[in-house]
Amino acid sequence: MDAGFLFGTSTAAFQVEGGIHGADWWQWTQVPLDGGRCTKIMDCDDPDNGPDDWDLVAQDIEAAKAIGTNAYRFSIEWSRIEPTEGVYDPTAIAHYHALLAAAREAGLTPMVTLDHDTLPLWLHGVAPGKSGASEADWVGGWRGLPGETPGSDARIVQAFGKFAGDMAKEFGGDVDLWLTLNEPMIVAAMGYALGTFPPGASMHLTDARNAVVNEAYANAAAYDAIHENDVVAARPGEEPALVGIAKSMPVFVPDPSSDPALAATAAAQMEHIFNWLFLDAIVDGNLDSHFDGSYSHPQDPEGEGTAIAALAARADFIGVNYYTVESVMPVVGGLPDAQGSSLVLPGILGGPADPTASFSDPPADEEIYPKGMRDTLLAVAGKFPQLPIYVTENGVADASDTKRAKFIVSHVQAMQQAMTEGADVRGYFHWSLIDNFEWTYGFAARYGLYHVDYSSPSKTRVLTRGAQAYQAVIAAQGVTPTLSARWGQ
Ligand code: BGC
Repeated sequence: MDAGFLFGTSTAAFQVEGGIHGADWWQWTQVPLDGGRCTKIMDCDDPDNGPDDWDLVAQDIEAAKAIGTNAYRFSIEWSRIEPTEGVYDPTAIAHYHALLAAAREAGLTPMVTLDHDTLPLWLHGVAPGKSGASEADWVGGWRGLPGETPGSDARIVQAFGKFAGDMAKEFGGDVDLWLTLNEPMIVAAMGYALGTFPPGASMHLTDARNAVVNEAYANAAAYDAIHENDVVAARPGEEPALVGIAKSMPVFVPDPSSDPALAATAAAQMEHIFNWLFLDAIVDGNLDSHFDGSYSHPQDPEGEGTAIAALAARADFIGVNYYTVESVMPVVGGLPDAQGSSLVLPGILGGPADPTASFSDPPADEEIYPKGMRDTLLAVAGKFPQLPIYVTENGVADASDTKRAKFIVSHVQAMQQAMTEGADVRGYFHWSLIDNFEWTYGFAARYGLYHVDYSSPSKTRVLTRGAQAYQAVIAAQGVTPTLSARWGQ
């Protein structure tokens, strides 16, 4: 690897810190709010019983250093920093300054995510007196407020731009690499189509569309605000601020048991909607707000067909979160919008693309497909040749620690292959440094390079075999044939 290549790990505040009670996700874990048994999280796992990185952050930075990494991606929790609109909490700000100082001391280049899937309650929460069990109980969020037009004037867009600018000013002296949003399409899909993230709506495609529009405008607002306010380079000779998003990019293939031609079309449409639509908006200003694969819909309110200058050129790099391959089963006529618009989804996710493949642990059950890393990086590089790429996440749920070493070696190898073929990849961040609260799966899915003993009072971190493999890869600055033979089994 070139000098300057970043080998790092990734975490997100809500998943590792504990004690975050001012976020929509906290309420989601407590639904129903009338005191009944929780309904949204597997085994009712409570994020407060997690790895307690809030208190153990110094130890976790040391753990990241011990693997040999030179970078660390983490998120600052908006709801901690701004628990009430317009009021910043000095304790939270001091905590993240301390984290950044520890990272600097450990030789870790920080990459900071401003919003990793959670929102403060003053922007998204359950209405007073409601249980939160129904999506209609939730107010605000990325879909916006009732009667609000999605776009630059939406309250959430304005609030995020303001927060991003203030954070850039506050932390810019220590940070050069910023991510505005983590996985905007996942947040929209899970929240409004699949119902597994707050507010839990099913097939509300109009809401999902509005969320995507707001997220694209929020990205632009944050991008501009960061560049305006972070004018100090933390790393001598580097740009003071490079701003991107972390984009979930699964490979979509036709479901092998479906009609091949229909499945191929549905897979291509799904790839367009899920993988490219958002990137097209923030790079080229093309916003396909009808999810129809064209940028020239006749009745488009956002100006489809002409690039939207207010959205375009708002990414300095692309962050790719790559995990898996998904097969798409076509649905003739498409899956309709429960809210009655003409929006449709082309199909549903089918069974394994390759039943003989290895899979991550249940309940994640992700098909392990290293070639997809190469293909995805080359596709991103081919579409946006002007932009460098960071792999901002890649990992595997593997409680028994039997798959992680091979997973890392094979995926880094595939990344190297893509680089040899021309992709400008500047870094690789493994998800995750430690086991953590995996959203709806609670603690059931273990992605950590360090296994966390949740039952021990000190939440002991135990180095995995996977971490040893990663350590060896970093020491060799890539996967060599020897390393592949040693760890790739
Ligand atoms: C998310 C992480 C998550 C990981 C593993 C990504 O989609 O950004 O927050 O924990 O996948 O499921």
